[in-house]
Amino acid sequence: MLLPVPPIETARLTLRPFTPDDFDAFYAYQSRPDVTRYLQWQARNPAQARQALAEQCRETALDAEGDWLTYAVVWRETGRMVGEVGLKWLSREHRGGETGFVFNPDYHGRGLATEAAECMLRVGFESLGWHRIIGCCDARNTASARLMERLGMRREAHLRHTEMVKGEWADELVYAMLDHEWGERRRERGAR
Ligand SMILES: CC(C)(COP(=O)(O)OP(=O)(O)OC[C@H]1O[C@@H](n2cnc3c(N)ncnc32)[C@H](O)[C@@H]1OP(=O)(O)O)[C@@H](O)C(=O)NCCC(=O)NCCS
Repeated sequence: MLLPVPPIETARLTLRPFTPDDFDAFYAYQSRPDVTRYLQWQARNPAQARQALAEQCRETALDAEGDWLTYAVVWRETGRMVGEVGLKWLSREHRGGETGFVFNPDYHGRGLATEAAECMLRVGFESLGWHRIIGCCDARNTASARLMERLGMRREAHLRHTEMVKGEWADELVYAMLDHEWGERRRERGAR
């Protein structure tokens, strides 16, 4: 698939592929139970984080449905790697994908994750030509839901008890945006 050549720059951020040198910054958030509270995986020990980082270093292309394209997010002002965003290719036939994001809590509350996720919508719609991009989160994950609402994604579903998260039944919210909605939003806000 046609992908923008990284690094991709937004107002404050540089999005680039992960490298093994990212380990310390990666482990800093991947090891935190408050980060993984509403995710399907547990906080990682160093060995698990090394394995996850090695996998994410390889997520640089979308060759087949199910593949993830993952970017390390660097806040240029500090030079720090503050989190990750990505796109998962869901369907070739239906031109669909999903976005996801995980940020280090030390850098929450500044709009950095929103800026990075908005860049993923741009890549998905404008570079990959997708028709529909979804985002899913645990219904208790209000920070994630607020982020998707800030992006202008529509809440399409509240699914009851769809998955077990950390031993409890969890509800799932599904957000979505279509390519024409992205275009309208860009026009309203003035293309940047
Ligand atoms: C989901 C997650 C990335 C959201 O992080 P976040 O810090 O809330 O998101 P942002 O970086 O976009 O910051 C947004 C907040 O900064 C504020 N903000 C400050 N300056 C801002 C700016 N210039 N632009 C936008 N928002 C700004 C916003 O008002 C918002 O605050 P609010 O949530 O109190 O309304 C984060 O909670 C996380 O990593 N969680 C753990 C992993 C996870 O659950 N991922 C989601 C899986 S579905």
